[in-house]
Amino acid sequence: MSKTILVRGGRVVLPNGEAQTNLLLRDGKIVAVDASQRSAADEVIEAEGLIVLPGVIDDQVHFREPGLTHKEDLTTGSAAAAAGGVTTYLEMPNTNPPATDQAAIEWKYQRAAEVSQVNYGFYIGATESNVSELAAAQNVPGIKIFIGSSTGSLLVDDQLALERIFAETTLPICAHCEDETLVRQNRTRLGDQLSVADHSRIRDVEAAVVATSRALDLARRHQHRFHVLHVSTAAELPLLIDAAPYITAEVCLHHLFFSTDDYARLGTLVQMNPSLKSPRDTALLWQGLLSNRIQVIATDHAPHTLEEKSRPYPQSPSGLPAVENSLPLMLHQVHQGKCSLEQLAHWMSDAPARVWGLVGKGRIEVGYDADLVLVDPTLSRTITNESQFAKSRGSPWAGQALTGWPVRTVVGGVTAFLNGRLVDGVRGSRVRCDHARGGYWSTQSGIGT
Ligand code: DOR
Repeated sequence: MSKTILVRGGRVVLPNGEAQTNLLLRDGKIVAVDASQRSAADEVIEAEGLIVLPGVIDDQVHFREPGLTHKEDLTTGSAAAAAGGVTTYLEMPNTNPPATDQAAIEWKYQRAAEVSQVNYGFYIGATESNVSELAAAQNVPGIKIFIGSSTGSLLVDDQLALERIFAETTLPICAHCEDETLVRQNRTRLGDQLSVADHSRIRDVEAAVVATSRALDLARRHQHRFHVLHVSTAAELPLLIDAAPYITAEVCLHHLFFSTDDYARLGTLVQMNPSLKSPRDTALLWQGLLSNRIQVIATDHAPHTLEEKSRPYPQSPSGLPAVENSLPLMLHQVHQGKCSLEQLAHWMSDAPARVWGLVGKGRIEVGYDADLVLVDPTLSRTITNESQFAKSRGSPWAGQALTGWPVRTVVGGVTAFLNGRLVDGVRGSRVRCDHARGGYWSTQSGIGT
């Protein structure tokens, strides 16, 4: 049965600015952005005093199912997403077993259809021997290569294997760029008396720069669509300035918010791959974002249990939970005047949708999917581990007070989260990717200076 919803009186963040306006939604789509406030509708959502944003699209999460579900699963990960205003996630293949063939991808889609409270897509993981699977892969946003190893067994370091992947596949590729050889050499050089701060000496600036340069060289020579995941150093930015128009980049919140100065306070809670770098790097990554050298903000939500994170370094695993708090963390930046709502919507919704060719996603515009998040810009709350829908209790942001929180998340026209509570039984849908449309740079010029 057809259902119409009027979202009335909100401050709506449109692709080209904000407007105080009404939205009309029908059957999961946006059908009008300047609707009369008297439009006939089956349901009215009062948005006065609220900001209406396109739902966040997080293009890098690890929800750990199958195999590592004591850390997270698709039920809890997607619940955390809904609570954080994230209406679509793209999930990484380093599960157990890893998602390196179509059968593993289909398993994830089937499981997500049963339990995921928001929309979903699953990357296929590269190995040194699955290029035919990668070439034939369907229903995936792209290929993930671990050029440096991280959690799990996925790693492609062999040059010939990398050449084949870039030459013989057509899906967009994204990569974790840390040079495996340098990381291993650094580890050996530093010996066994290690503290967590050594993580940034082992996974150092050079390891990131060498691997990113190598990946960009491959992308250029093969003219292959390529997305640099979690850029962590200022030294990578000049590489991106010269990059070709089929190349895009992402930064994660932890690299924008923390630096090596934070190890003393937060220990292994801020151990992640790529590692934290200097305060100067952190400041310049913000500049990279503001100047559109980096297009996308993601979380790399990579949960582990508190017991695992409490092990002494280097037995402690890398990664931290963030999907539930990424939007409030960025809204707080807006509150503090560091960026605008329009920029936030670009980095967290529109840009990832363009990079991955997500049909109908990322914008509040007629014809787009009704994936929305309504935010109270005056609401102040403190992040606590106990209040998370995600399994992990190891947020490095715990204790931080933020102003600006999601109060309602709408997935395909259906409210999935309202005033602190999940709505039972809401399910997202799989994303559709139109890679033929050419990616980020061909669909818009981006914003920034
Ligand atoms: O710190 C990280 N942890 N970085 C990654 O890229 C992977 C992740 C994980 O899966 O734990």
